[in-house]
Amino acid sequence: MSNHVVLIGLMGSGKSTVGRRLAKRLGRTFVDTDARIETSTGRRVREVFQTDGESTFRDIEASILREILDGTEPSIVAGGGGIILREENRRLLTDEHVIWLRAAPSLLAQRLSQSARRGVGHRPLIDDDPLGTLTSMHESRSVFYAEVSDDVIDVDDLSPDQVVEECKRSIERRAS
Ligand code: S3P
Repeated sequence: MSNHVVLIGLMGSGKSTVGRRLAKRLGRTFVDTDARIETSTGRRVREVFQTDGESTFRDIEASILREILDGTEPSIVAGGGGIILREENRRLLTDEHVIWLRAAPSLLAQRLSQSARRGVGHRPLIDDDPLGTLTSMHESRSVFYAEVSDDVIDVDDLSPDQVVEECKRSIERRAS
């Protein structure tokens, strides 16, 4: 049964902004996997990457996702960009209503470059070469985003509120 709506896509595609607004519109709880990881570990995402490495981060991410999806209250979930990398996560996501916010890597790099190059925030993977990394992530991950998503929204030319509207339509279509 599909309880939750999960937003997926690369870093900077608007999952958290849209997710928060969508949750408010629908009167649902908003959950961000990165924020949950930080609350549960008591550490910043960047710190977990730097101290324990990506593989440990992915272990924590998988267990947090399981915990969130086990929750009975239907929520709006923003998944970290790499949430689709683990097969077990992709399997869990097939039971939910998953929407892929798809964006051109050049747009994402533009949005994220400043904070990435300053080495701040929760995206250590793009510290060195935001555009190059986002381009290769787009190439390698698109197949996984496509595999688990029920709907795709091309967000490049849309405002966050327009994306929220598209998500609402997607949820209504699913319910009817
Ligand atoms: C990651 C995306 C980030 C965060 C971490 C790894 C990725 O989340 O989970 O830096 O592998 O794409 P956002 O997509 O919310 O930025």
